[in-house]
Amino acid sequence: MKKIVVANWKMNPETMREAKKLALETKKLAGKLRSTTIIACVPNVFLTELASGRPSTRLLWGAQDVSGKEGTGAFTGEVSAKLLQYAGAQFAIIGHSERRALGESDEVVNSKIKLALAARLRVIICIGESERDESGDYLRPLREQLKQAFRGLAKNDLKKVIVAYEPVWAVGREATRSDTPAEFLHHALFIRKTISDLFDAKTAMQVPVLYGGSVDSKNAEGFLKEGRADGLLIGRASLKPEEFKKILYVAEH
Ligand code: PGA
Repeated sequence: MKKIVVANWKMNPETMREAKKLALETKKLAGKLRSTTIIACVPNVFLTELASGRPSTRLLWGAQDVSGKEGTGAFTGEVSAKLLQYAGAQFAIIGHSERRALGESDEVVNSKIKLALAARLRVIICIGESERDESGDYLRPLREQLKQAFRGLAKNDLKKVIVAYEPVWAVGREATRSDTPAEFLHHALFIRKTISDLFDAKTAMQVPVLYGGSVDSKNAEGFLKEGRADGLLIGRASLKPEEFKKILYVAEH
């Protein structure tokens, strides 16, 4: 089964020079891949330059968000899905917990997804609970996030959707731990069941479900093998080529 590895560079690196260097290292790693695809989601200012190289089926480019505004207009600072597509993005991460933390609602996530799809971008939708409780109550908000994200989408749109399950408490430098492969497997099944309820079983099986949150070269194998993840969404480790290489190796084997 082909694996998807999303490299979420976030607000890194500091300069175009460093970005080009990191892109070159990532390209070299992608060149050795047979069955894994990297989707590098980079800051918008680097996108045009980095995505303009020779197209590769193993290294695709994405944005980390799209504007919730449609078309053109007086929206200072906004960058539309269409502009990002024009800049070379094929994918966009939408609803990342770091954006939700800035106040992005499920409603906004839904309209961004629609705008991205209309601009011919494929979307990586991030969902995840902020707290884990023993009772399983946290599954309700997960279901709600999915339901809201998919509101108004047709079955056919789901072919362009990847879901990344990222428990908020496991994402980024402040994270205390990653999820466990067994817990991820449980959540991935829950996600598929929810998609199946909203659409149908066939559609649910087609949507890749990735794990994200403190992935490194030590825990990647667990999520991909025991957790049966279709891939990984990686922040910090995607900025370290040696570490990233080890994760890709696991994804390939
Ligand atoms: P992290 O970030 O791998 O640094 O925890 C994951 C993410 O971007 O969601």
